[in-house]
Amino acid sequence: MPLTSMPTPPPAGAAAVALILAAGQGTRMRSRLPKVLHPVCGRPMLAYVVDAATAATGGKPWVVVSPAVEAAVREAVGPLVCLAVQPEQLGTGDALRVGLAQVAPAVEEVVVASGDAPLITPATLERLLAARASADAAMALATMEPDDPGGYGRVVRDDEGPLRIVEEKDAAAGELALGEVVGGAYAFDAAWLRTALERLGASPATGEVYLTGLVALARADGRAVVAVEVEDDLELAGINDRVQLATVEADLRWRILETHMLAGVTMQDPTTVYVEAGVQLARDVVLAPNVILRGTTAVGEGSVIGAGSQLIDSRVGAGCRVWASVLESSEVEDGATVGPFAHLRPGASVGKGAEVGNFAELKQARLGARSKQHHMSYLGDTTTGEGVNVGAGTITANYDGRRKHRTTIGDGAFLGVDTMLVAPVTVGAAARTGAGAVVTRDVPPGKLAVGVPARIREPRPRPEDPETT
Ligand code: UD1
Ligand code: CA
Repeated sequence: MPLTSMPTPPPAGAAAVALILAAGQGTRMRSRLPKVLHPVCGRPMLAYVVDAATAATGGKPWVVVSPAVEAAVREAVGPLVCLAVQPEQLGTGDALRVGLAQVAPAVEEVVVASGDAPLITPATLERLLAARASADAAMALATMEPDDPGGYGRVVRDDEGPLRIVEEKDAAAGELALGEVVGGAYAFDAAWLRTALERLGASPATGEVYLTGLVALARADGRAVVAVEVEDDLELAGINDRVQLATVEADLRWRILETHMLAGVTMQDPTTVYVEAGVQLARDVVLAPNVILRGTTAVGEGSVIGAGSQLIDSRVGAGCRVWASVLESSEVEDGATVGPFAHLRPGASVGKGAEVGNFAELKQARLGARSKQHHMSYLGDTTTGEGVNVGAGTITANYDGRRKHRTTIGDGAFLGVDTMLVAPVTVGAAARTGAGAVVTRDVPPGKLAVGVPARIREPRPRPEDPETT
């Protein structure tokens, strides 16, 4: 199942509130875009964490942001979360303090996740809550033993469990060798946390207030700390730089592809296929190599998306064929064919069984059912009826240098090769244009327009039209 459509199960602990830490500078990304808004498979990484936190608690999470990223985060996930602003980025412990200040005093359990670790699952957050509650521990922390523990806080244990966390920047050589690390997800006894955060000091080494310092505080208070080990290291993988971004994206991309393949989608070479998290694919869709499907794209049953196609926020019906083409915010109805080398720009709509061919472009344009626009043609701001033949090289001159104008083409019209339609203009139903006609005035239904500029004639009677190709 794509992560976007994750269902919200009943809350694990109805009293639990989720806090997501997302105020850090993200300096290591070297980016103008806030780190937590960098997309992973087409969605901001923070959105995945919001989904997981919402699923685990059944309520809106609080997201701790900096003043610099507040507006951008609101824009990206605003309706799904509540925002708390951390005025200065003094460290994860300070961020937690800011978030907790928003949580009602009656709330007994808090679950914390890091906005830069998008693969966290609701199940792990629920396990943290359950493990903390059943041991009546002050806190539970998610841990892992990755091949390379670099960058993560190391877990120092005694017989009773985690004793303290050493941040890498502060660690002694011996401590750096510890293989168990903390992954940025925690559950807390909220009452204890309120008292502990008041006592949490800054690291002498860096001046930052470490959330991870709470482990030693809990143990000093005589409270238990439990570790919940996560088997899949990537689940806790934090994204601090663009190499880690690429690693996490590769993993999530593969999971998305697997989900679609198991649901009945054929991918001839999945290693070259990119399908973003929000894409929906019906059964028996076939994706050829080098296909990219982005945003809210949806493809209907049995459709074949040929090599080299890129579809962005577009809907393709059932039984269609799209081949080496680019579709942006467009719609293709059942049984239509597109390409090779067609460009459907925003607002293009291709009717049932219609055919869009080589070097054909549509923009804010409807090509009616069974109509054909096969060769080197541009229709912009146009409504085309059903069964229309758009001859090779037909162009709408829709822009006069200042404004866009509309073109309307009636059912069954036949546009000869190289027809120039100077908008605003209407070609009536079953009307025809001659080769090279420059149509500057409306063509009444059933009439013929020829010449430059085109004059209107009675069409000569013709034998039955052969099929066009
Ligand atoms: C942190 C942990 C480390 C752990 C790792 C897991 C601390 C001190 N260290 O390190 O032990 O192994 O996560 O990924 O907690 N943030 C704020 N405000 C701040 C600072 C950070 O909201 O003032 C947010 C960041 O946006 C980020 C999260 O907290 O989403 C973690 O901060 P980051 O700086 O990435 O911590 P790490 O160095 O990865
Ligand atoms: Ca991090």
